Amino acid sequence: MNKPQLAQTSAFSEPCEYFNDNWQTYQKILQNNYMEHREIYSVLHKFLVSRSQKPFKLLDLGCGDASLAVPALIDTSIQAYYGIDLAQAAIALAADNLGAISCPKTLVAGDFTAVIPQLINAQQERFDIILASFSLHHLHLEQKDDLIGHLYQLLNREGVLLLIDIVRQEGEDRTTYIERYLKRVRQDWTALTPQEVASVETHIATSDFPETQTMLQQLTLNRGFSRSECLYQNEFGSSQLLCFYK
Ligand SMILES: C[S@@+](CC[C@H](N)C(=O)[O-])C[C@H]1O[C@@H](n2cnc3c(N)ncnc32)[C@H](O)[C@@H]1O
Repeated sequence: MNKPQLAQTSAFSEPCEYFNDNWQTYQKILQNNYMEHREIYSVLHKFLVSRSQKPFKLLDLGCGDASLAVPALIDTSIQAYYGIDLAQAAIALAADNLGAISCPKTLVAGDFTAVIPQLINAQQERFDIILASFSLHHLHLEQKDDLIGHLYQLLNREGVLLLIDIVRQEGEDRTTYIERYLKRVRQDWTALTPQEVASVETHIATSDFPETQTMLQQLTLNRGFSRSECLYQNEFGSSQLLCFYK
C-alpha cells in the first residue's frame, strides 16, 4: 500500500470535522445497520462479482474506513483500489481494513472535489468503476454537476458510476426530507447516546443535500452517461443504489 497522501485543504470543513471527530459514532451507525448498508452492499457485492470476467480499477469517493467496501470486493476481479476521504481518522483505519484485499491500493486524505481535477490533469489514473457511497449528498447541486462531469472523464470506456446515497422523493423539498429522516433517527437509532443523536442531527441538518432520482439521472445524462439503473432502494425510497453507465 502506498503511504496515504495528503491533498490540499478542503472547503468542506463541516463534513470533515464531523467525521473526524465522530468516527466512532459512525461505526455504531454501521454496526447497527441504521443506514441499511447490509442490504445495499449485498446488492453491490453481487453486481461486482457479476463483472468478474473483466478486471477493474475502482475509485472510492468518501471511502471512510472502507470497512464495508472491503467485503464487497472479496471474490471480485479488482485490479486496483483508490480511495479518497477528508477524514484522517477514517483513512488510517481504511489502510488496515484494505489489508484483506491483495491488489495495489492508494489512499488519499483530501477533498475529492479538489483531488479529482488533479487526477484528470495528471492523466495517469483512469477507472472502470467509481463508487460514491453516502458522500455525494454533501455537495450542493452545482458541485454535484461539476463533479459528475469530471467523473465521466475519469471513467474508462464502458465504465460505471455506482452511487449509493440518500435520495429525496419526487416533489419533496429538502426540509421535508430532513424532517422525515430525522424522525427515523430519533425513533430508531437507539444505540446512540442523546449527545450522539444531537450531533448527528446537526450534521444532517447542515450538511445533507439529497437530490431526487430524476435529478441525478438528468445530471448524469447531461454529462454524457448513456443510461441508468436503480439496483436497490429501501422501502422508503430514501436510500438507493444507482448505476450510471458510460
Ligand atoms: C457517511 S460517510 C460514508 C463512508 C462510506 N463510504 C460508507 O458508505 O459508509 C461519508 C464520508 O465521505 C467523506 N466526505 C464527505 N465529503 C467529502 C469530500 N468532499 N471529499 C472527501 N471525502 C468526503 C466523509 O469524510 C466521510 O468519511
